[in-house]
Amino acid sequence: MKKYIFAAILIQLLSLMACQPDDSNSFADFDIMDINDIDMPNTANASIEDLGRLLFWDPILSGNQDVACATCHHPDFGYADGRALPIGIEGLGLGPNRRDISGNNIGLVKRNSPTVINTAFNGMDEDGDFDPALAPMFWDNRMFSLEAQALGPIANFEEMRGHAFDENIAVDSIIARLEANTQYQNLFNTAFGSTSSITSENIGLAIAAFERTIVATNSPFDQFQAGNQNAMTQQQIQGMNRFRQIGCDDCHSGPMFSDFELHVVGVPDHPLLAESDTGANGSYAFRTPTLRNLDFTGPYFHNGVGRDLEETVAFYRTARNFARNNNGGNGGGGNGLDVNENLNRNDIDDDIRNLGNLDNDDIQSIVAFIEALNDPDFDRSIPPSVPSGLQPGGLID
Ligand code: HEC
Ligand code: HEC
Repeated sequence: MKKYIFAAILIQLLSLMACQPDDSNSFADFDIMDINDIDMPNTANASIEDLGRLLFWDPILSGNQDVACATCHHPDFGYADGRALPIGIEGLGLGPNRRDISGNNIGLVKRNSPTVINTAFNGMDEDGDFDPALAPMFWDNRMFSLEAQALGPIANFEEMRGHAFDENIAVDSIIARLEANTQYQNLFNTAFGSTSSITSENIGLAIAAFERTIVATNSPFDQFQAGNQNAMTQQQIQGMNRFRQIGCDDCHSGPMFSDFELHVVGVPDHPLLAESDTGANGSYAFRTPTLRNLDFTGPYFHNGVGRDLEETVAFYRTARNFARNNNGGNGGGGNGLDVNENLNRNDIDDDIRNLGNLDNDDIQSIVAFIEALNDPDFDRSIPPSVPSGLQPGGLID
């Protein structure tokens, strides 16, 4: 199957080469594994997934019962929130319209909400191999597995906990709340086949099982790769070629277009944050995000400073030039993003320094290619009610 796809792509690309003689050697190793050939980790039954879905939408998990996971990971915004920086507790509304009603006593969440779509595949390597127990989480890869991650926001002050209880008793306090709810008692007992099954471990298992159902892997690129020559436009195919030739795929590699590793790209800080975000271990490294489904999840980068794809891709020209000669820090004429002022050229990842030159045409065609990685057909359903009786998704109207 893999060989067949490879051959089909090669044939298409060979026909293209006729008009682009300069590119003649660059296609031979374009052999990205077909994501739809990869088996999902199948760890849960449907009642666990259904329970996870209710937990994901139920603001009962937050201190003041006003925020749910879905507040910041909402299907209308590709399971992100459409904001540069999220507003968690004591906020009102959804997405860009959400506002702080705390009288500024809480503060913004300090990083951009990443999407939950395809997090089932976090950590996948170029061969499509991955271990869900070791799947890296967050912009700085500080946690592993969806199961472990799911308990994090509950204890996080700005995201869900607020002033309701201390951090060290946050999860236990939520467990006590769920135990007091007969519907949750029944749902947990059915899902896990025992009594007294409302545990932190099972909360994590259920939410992770639900998250693994949120996938979107049938993009025009996937269809093209499966042999449908018409699935991508000429400009998108050109962008795909330039993406590789320039070296974007050194980090945005494999079926998820991510190596899931940490790199210093040099993204500037968000102007509204008082402190510089120094990334993983204070090194300014952040994890390579997937490039799938970006249409639904902007703005971009770990703090949302990339307002659209064009600005985000154009930043690489600035970063590359900066890494090469240290005087390219100004975003290509004043309108773009500058490299982070706390970095100098030697701090920037070699794979940025070694990128090929990006001209304006390249930026346009690469943006078009990234648009070929969108699959709008993901589960956007919202449960009509949740066991707490609270509004699904929290105070988002
Ligand atoms: C107030 C907004 C907010 C809420 C509420 C929230 N998250 Fe997030 N989520 C974020 C932000 C911001 C990050 C990235 C944080 C970082 O990298 O340090 C994140 C990261 C994640 C990730 C990691 C994705 C990846 O690819 O690394 C997952 C999974 C996730 N959240 C699921 C959840 C779940 C499950 C809940 C509910 C229990 C939840 N989130 C509640 C904002 C939120
Ligand atoms: C050295 C590894 C590396 C290379 C090479 C690289 N990227 Fe990235 N990319 C990253 C990292 C790391 C981030 C996140 C940086 C941050 O948020 O601070 C990122 C973020 C992005 C984003 C934003 C995605 C989102 O969800 O926020 C886009 C778009 C992107 N890269 C496209 C490209 C393109 C196009 C190229 C080639 C011109 C490229 N990248 C080359 C590592 C790389």
